[in-house]
Amino acid sequence: MSDEVVVRRRDDGATELRVSGVFVMDDVETSSERRLARVALENGARDVLVGGLGLGFTVSALLADTSVRRVLVAELHDEVVAENHLDDPRLTVVVGDVRDVVAAQPDASMDAVLLDVDNGPDFLVHPDNAAVYEGAFLAECARMLRPGGTLAIWSMADSEALRRILAAHLTDVLAESVPVTLQGRAEAYWILSGRAGLSFAS
Ligand SMILES: C[S@@+](CC[C@H](N)C(=O)[O-])C[C@H]1O[C@@H](n2cnc3c(N)ncnc32)[C@H](O)[C@@H]1O
Repeated sequence: MSDEVVVRRRDDGATELRVSGVFVMDDVETSSERRLARVALENGARDVLVGGLGLGFTVSALLADTSVRRVLVAELHDEVVAENHLDDPRLTVVVGDVRDVVAAQPDASMDAVLLDVDNGPDFLVHPDNAAVYEGAFLAECARMLRPGGTLAIWSMADSEALRRILAAHLTDVLAESVPVTLQGRAEAYWILSGRAGLSFAS
């Protein structure tokens, strides 16, 4: 993928990330990115794989918790990595596609996988990311979770199709709406999640 990545300071003082001219995120409303980390932390995660560094809010929220032992981040664009100034011995950032990074991990090696690489299955910024929300890749994520581990996915909207795919590989599937205020309007983003069964079989 060759995309133009721009992280810039806007006139209103906010920092904004754009890929190929398309708005990805800014630092004005980050509660859902931080909530994504909390979903893993509330399930006791200590070793976490994160897909998509962005402006680093999910990763910072994980690292703020002293019980977290290791955070492995897969970020597609090295320009995004260069803009982040996260410095923590528990953090490893790999520049690459999250699908390749997950495929390289051993079975049952992480407590949580957090995916925030795109806007969700129905609002893709990058068409190649469709595969991130499909059964084959989500089965791979389930494979690398320890028993009871968490897979959580940020999405702009709930998706019944995505919940069904999660339920094929995980238990306790939930769609949580996270209230956000966007340009003065009350809206919601979503986190879809599930947990690996207690006896590892998938
Ligand atoms: C919405 S941002 C992530 C926001 C992040 N949760 C935060 O707290 O700032 C999405 C990020 O995923 C990256 N990305 C997009 N597709 C990817 C892929 N297939 N694998 C890894 N990273 C990807 C983008 O470059 C971007 O940095």
